Amino acid sequence: MMEFPTTTKALVIEAYNANLVRALRGMKIIEKPFSEPQPGEVLVKMDASPVNPSDIAFLRGMYNVNKALPAVPGFEGTGIIIKAGDETSENLSGRRVSFFTQDEGDGAWCEYLCLKAGNYIFINDALPVEQAACLFINPFTAYAMFDEALKSGTKAIIQTAANGQVGRFIRFFACENGIKVINLVRKNEHVEAMKREGEPFVLNLNDEDFYENLKILTSDLKATVAIDAVGGEITGKLLNVMPAGSQVILYGGLSGAPVAMIDPLEVIFKNKVLRGFNLGDWMKTVSDAEVERISGYLQTLFIKKKSKPGFRHPFLWKTSMKACVPIFQICRQGRFFSGCEVSKGKKEAVSK
Ligand SMILES: NC(=O)c1ccc[n+]([C@@H]2O[C@H](COP(=O)([O-])OP(=O)(O)OC[C@H]3O[C@@H](n4cnc5c(N)ncnc54)[C@H](OP(=O)(O)O)[C@@H]3O)[C@@H](O)[C@H]2O)c1
Repeated sequence: MMEFPTTTKALVIEAYNANLVRALRGMKIIEKPFSEPQPGEVLVKMDASPVNPSDIAFLRGMYNVNKALPAVPGFEGTGIIIKAGDETSENLSGRRVSFFTQDEGDGAWCEYLCLKAGNYIFINDALPVEQAACLFINPFTAYAMFDEALKSGTKAIIQTAANGQVGRFIRFFACENGIKVINLVRKNEHVEAMKREGEPFVLNLNDEDFYENLKILTSDLKATVAIDAVGGEITGKLLNVMPAGSQVILYGGLSGAPVAMIDPLEVIFKNKVLRGFNLGDWMKTVSDAEVERISGYLQTLFIKKKSKPGFRHPFLWKTSMKACVPIFQICRQGRFFSGCEVSKGKKEAVSK
């Protein structure tokens, strides 16, 4: 009979700390036991997991998910099922999955993880591991918000942090659906890069004439949906500049500042709305069949290489190094780390 592991190597955080460097320095690699998969659960050997901005916020104790400490972070990843909790279920062993979990209990930054039914989807063997690892959080977030924009009937959207991962997916979906995008970034290098990629409407938030140009473009293109990852003053400015009946969907707080500058008259008399989006809550409103459908759509696009959304690159994770060093590099570079493999005497990482 095949023997299954009873312990897993895991990266744990022992104390949240608003100072990211301190939070990272407090992290450790440990060996910990895990429970057998229960009916409906599967045991997965991890291949890779990304470090997303939500992971950073979690480590800083500034996210809406707080776990009992010590905790294993990581909200998404990919791996292979090695055991199913329900022996009567179809043979799941050997199947590739991608998953998203914000449940209490261990997160993705470990070698072995038990996943509940509904938290994972099956992955096509042709999907590269780095895309499978990042299939949930950013693509689904972009898909869900873009879908809402599309259903609103708008012909154009505005988006902040347009050079980020979510922003890239939004641009991709917009291009597929013939929707114009007014892309807002804060550096000239991003303006130039996006123009080279063929984006006609890119504005730098820091330009003197930014607000005037935003007004003109918004009016010309009749953009009635803005998708905002920044918060602070730009959220209010977006709402003020857009036509009557517009909505701003706020999904991130990259500026770290409270939303400001909203002209109350625009909200009262022009029927404008500011609302939030959170993937975890959205997932609870969507059926498993719909998640499967969206996942199938995304995987097909990625496999056909129609999408080049700039996934995070593989990261070589050396388990012999202090955990804080590679993770600090990952956070700085926005890269994901791959599962580690421990060889006799020497511990080294595998980059998939
Ligand atoms: N609500 C949800 O369900 C959900 C889901 C996914 C992601 N998110 C959030 O969405 C945000 C974006 O995620 P992502 O994965 O796309 O991030 P990302 O790939 O790290 O990209 C964010 C981009 O925004 C730019 N940026 C950072 N701070 C900024 C600021 N103050 N003003 C303007 N631009 C700024 C950065 O570019 P430069 O530094 O080069 O300018 C960066 O490239 C994050 O806050 C994340 O937590 C939320």
